[in-house]
Amino acid sequence: ESTSISFDPANTIADVNPLIYGGFTEFVSNDIGRHMGRCIYGGLYEPDNKELSDENGFRRDVISYFKELQVPVVRYPGGNFCASYRWQDGIGPKENRPKRPELAWEGVEPNTFGTDEFMEWCKVVGTEPYLCLNMGTGTLEDALAWVEYCNGDKDTHYANLRRQNGHEKPYNVKYWALGNEMWGPWQVEQHTKEDYAKKAIQWARGIDVSTALKLLDPSITLILCGKDGYSDWDRYTLQQCLRWVDMHSIHYYSMGKGHYKNISSVYAAERAIQVCSSLIDLARCEFDLSPFPDIERIITKPNSAKRPTICFDEWNVWDPERAPGNKGGEEQYTLSDGLAVAIWLNIFVRNCKDIGMATIAQSVNVIAPLMTTPRGVWKQTTYFPLLLFSKYMHGKAVSVHTRTGTYQGETFPRWVETTVSVPKLDVSATIDSDGWMNVAIVNSDEEKGYTTKLNGICPGSEVQVFTVGGEAFKSADTNSENEEKVNIRESVWNATDASYRFERLSFTLLRWKA
Ligand code: AHR
Repeated sequence: ESTSISFDPANTIADVNPLIYGGFTEFVSNDIGRHMGRCIYGGLYEPDNKELSDENGFRRDVISYFKELQVPVVRYPGGNFCASYRWQDGIGPKENRPKRPELAWEGVEPNTFGTDEFMEWCKVVGTEPYLCLNMGTGTLEDALAWVEYCNGDKDTHYANLRRQNGHEKPYNVKYWALGNEMWGPWQVEQHTKEDYAKKAIQWARGIDVSTALKLLDPSITLILCGKDGYSDWDRYTLQQCLRWVDMHSIHYYSMGKGHYKNISSVYAAERAIQVCSSLIDLARCEFDLSPFPDIERIITKPNSAKRPTICFDEWNVWDPERAPGNKGGEEQYTLSDGLAVAIWLNIFVRNCKDIGMATIAQSVNVIAPLMTTPRGVWKQTTYFPLLLFSKYMHGKAVSVHTRTGTYQGETFPRWVETTVSVPKLDVSATIDSDGWMNVAIVNSDEEKGYTTKLNGICPGSEVQVFTVGGEAFKSADTNSENEEKVNIRESVWNATDASYRFERLSFTLLRWKA
């Protein structure tokens, strides 16, 4: 079967927003209740581990891997957690901070890691904070107070409280989410779409103009709480709120029993982005509801000049059955999952014109690329594609035409279609500002490698090759603390005949000066 990948570096799609390589850290710490595992407490924050943590209690080894991944933005404090989070419990002297019952995961929140600790951690890591507001039990007053605490530069109460706590300069937090999964029956204070849209408008802009987030700080980016991108919730909330917000958040976790279902389920994300993009366009149209609508008017008069981007702020492979009981969400990933994550990232690059940000859920221990033990950190299979993408897949996405065989794969059951046509080779490409061409290729075939013609590469180019998986790994091995089987292999390929063999079950990144 002959396969080819064709591209022209001059044929670009749009800029790849570096924020697509973001992370997410949620509270939820102890072993009471149906906890999710150790993301913050016992993950990135472990003050009792004197050997591995710094004077702030931050795990130094975790920080070094966040730096290696160059994580550009980190979402916090939830997730479901934020629907009952009282941010004011987590500031000031630690001995005065109350412990609270944690309702999302039925644990106890000690509040020893709060806003100032998170801001300091972001500074050390070199990443941007992205805060999710409590729209469950929280009020607009709490939200305004949090924005003022973080960003206020005047002589006002919460800005002064921050100064009193030792932080003179405002943190200037840019990204703020209007709640998390507000539609979910598991949410503390689940909302209908109508209730949520009304509340989001009031919070974003304000009916009483003196009390709105954007009036307090017009520079902030507000992120609307969507669903999975293809629901009536997404349609309605976008139509109601579009003009007041800057991004629309969607969530989706892929999963499927067996390798091919694991891979094919990822493609629901690509459809979700495409459908959501259309819902954004639809929401920008001003509809004439008369019986004979004036088509010209619908097309030429958008009700907002603004076009929000999609913020895919929870995405990953997640099969809760693989980490049952008291392990919470601490899944161990296989090579198949690593390849699925590479396809996820290809999807973000291919659809970069619509994606303003994406944050993998989550970053440490809980369905995460990094796992901690009291002795150190080990990397999951999903770490390696993330690293290669965040290092190299920048600049402008390049349009790619791939000729490969396909197979019919099952999509995730929530999606309206039951099958999807899955390419044997999944590809995305970028050209960066220094003129380096980067092509990311996933061969998810369990049986076969493909010798593939690359149309668009100058014969004789010296190509850097990075490979994850492939023949060096006979089975879809799980990494573990003691045995990190999956890693990145580096080599150089002289592209004399412009044909490259992509091994079975591999992720390959090729780069050369175009
Ligand atoms: O990331 C784990 C959980 O999944 C988040 O808390 C929630 O938003 C989602 O349902």
